[in-house]
Amino acid sequence: MLIVGNWKMNGSIAMASDFLGWFTGHWHGSRGVDIGLCPPLVYISQFEQTLRGSTIKVGGQNIATELEGPFTGEVSSRMLKDLGCQMVLIGHSERRVNFRENNDIVAEKYRRAYAADLTPILCVGETSDHRNAGSTLDVISEQIYAVKNLVGEHALCAGVIAYEPVWAIGSGVAASPKQAQEVHLSIRDLLGPRGKHTQIIYGGSLNRDNAKALFTEQDIDGGLVGGASLHAEHFLEIIRQAEFA
Ligand code: 13P
Repeated sequence: MLIVGNWKMNGSIAMASDFLGWFTGHWHGSRGVDIGLCPPLVYISQFEQTLRGSTIKVGGQNIATELEGPFTGEVSSRMLKDLGCQMVLIGHSERRVNFRENNDIVAEKYRRAYAADLTPILCVGETSDHRNAGSTLDVISEQIYAVKNLVGEHALCAGVIAYEPVWAIGSGVAASPKQAQEVHLSIRDLLGPRGKHTQIIYGGSLNRDNAKALFTEQDIDGGLVGGASLHAEHFLEIIRQAEFA
């Protein structure tokens, strides 16, 4: 199981310090659960320094398609690696929608992350319009195949896939365990034979109340947690649910 917190554009130095203080004081290791935290870029060093020596991994929320050069405001895969990051979110729906990242850009970012030895967490998911039109799997297969065609099955299956239905993100309404399991199983089929052991995690209004039922499903290998990861206590409770799943 894998539980990753995505802070998005939230927090402050003081809040990060409170979170890390509480979390490191109360978390005494977790059996069978890997943990990752993706704070805003400017707080990555604070997280990395506090968590160094523990098994908790720190990650970024985005990288540039380029490695260096005249790209004001951008940060590359190598720079995240330099900071001590071990993972990075790729193609989060908020980037696809707000920053117009299409499948080609997402695939290129995945390639960069993989080449820099960062575990790419490829985010895929449909909007409510897609779901209502019955095109959920078409959208997701396009998102997956764009990456597979560029990097190949081996690199794709070495990463993590996060199924995040856009309609569930920040809405307070998570996918039902049955809805999520159905898509996770289809994603596993799309990955190919090597995808048997690829971690496919669920994100979208995941919280301490609904985590257990979702994690019990066969092909749900953990969660990508947004809002609830800002509260150390809630985040830890979600990790505990994963331990018992
Ligand atoms: P919420 O958990 O706030 O719905 O966010 C999910 C998400 O987008 C994580 O990447």
